[in-house]
Amino acid sequence: MSIVNQDVRGEDPAQATKAPERDYEAELAALRTDRNRWRAEAEKLSEQFQNTPTIDRSYLLTKGTMRQRQTYHALAKEVKAADIQRRRELGQKYLAEQKLESETSKLVVLQKDGFASVDLSHHPLVQDAIKECRDTYQEAIDSGKELLSKDSLEFVGDAGWPFIASGGVYKLATSPLLLAPVIRYFGMFPIMTGFGLLSARNEEFYPHSSQRLHFDPEDRTQLKVFFYITDVDETSGPFMAVPAEDSAVLYNDPDFKLARQDDTAVREGSIRTFTGPAGTAIYCDTCRCLHAGARPGGKKRLMLSIEYNIPTHLNSKLWEGDPTPERRCRTLKVRDYNLNEYTEALLAHPKPA
Ligand SMILES: [Fe+2]
Repeated sequence: MSIVNQDVRGEDPAQATKAPERDYEAELAALRTDRNRWRAEAEKLSEQFQNTPTIDRSYLLTKGTMRQRQTYHALAKEVKAADIQRRRELGQKYLAEQKLESETSKLVVLQKDGFASVDLSHHPLVQDAIKECRDTYQEAIDSGKELLSKDSLEFVGDAGWPFIASGGVYKLATSPLLLAPVIRYFGMFPIMTGFGLLSARNEEFYPHSSQRLHFDPEDRTQLKVFFYITDVDETSGPFMAVPAEDSAVLYNDPDFKLARQDDTAVREGSIRTFTGPAGTAIYCDTCRCLHAGARPGGKKRLMLSIEYNIPTHLNSKLWEGDPTPERRCRTLKVRDYNLNEYTEALLAHPKPA
């Protein structure tokens, strides 16, 4: 707004000290001009927003159809091409440079299956992680505190707390023993988005829970490594999965929205049930394979879940100015003071706003 100034030079000094008279009409006119200018700015801005494609990742995560997901992730692949290329190279370097463990150096998770399992119970890294998990569980029970729970699952411990970077679980999750098959499956070095210990009570059946077959929503592909911490048989709510090629009937249906499914939704005999001793690792692409677990049985089950993603996953921003906020990443609480280029890339996750 402009101020109405009066030139007082050459006037009677007595008159000059008097406050100039305000020209209200002129001030109002200036205000009106300003208001119109701001309105014009606002209109310009809203026009710009209407012409800007914004993508609501939270909507996609919960309600997106398979067609929308496919479109988004194809776009994300383009937008994040540089990071993907960097991770491809890092993955190759890792496989060539690291001392791979014989147990998993040849383990391949086939794309047609989307899962593979291996008994790693004799490996010292796995034994240390099992001990840390069992101790954590026992402490939780002894404390008498009620565990956070959802349906049949109880959340015993999480990345960062109590599973810190010097502990056995973190060492296992960042080791070539686990990472080599993940890199081979993705064709690139992954991001570790979370890990945690879950207890399954396996007492009741909750129809809206992960006890029924479902896909995870974070991407079109991801790998979770499930480690049994207790021995698991048919009565301990074993993990179950349908091969990717049999899950494709829903995965490739463009109008399908993620929803829990009855076992009859897939080809008869296609559901694979994973049993095994403590230390059994199950690699599963939970975005491409329908899966379920913790169904009612006589025994409890303790399971460690470690999650690996690629840069296109829905919890990370599509580009720097992407207005949809990032979701807090579960590995954010991990404080690793001895980061190297690999652990740094593993922990390159969304930060809170
Ligand atoms: Fe799931």
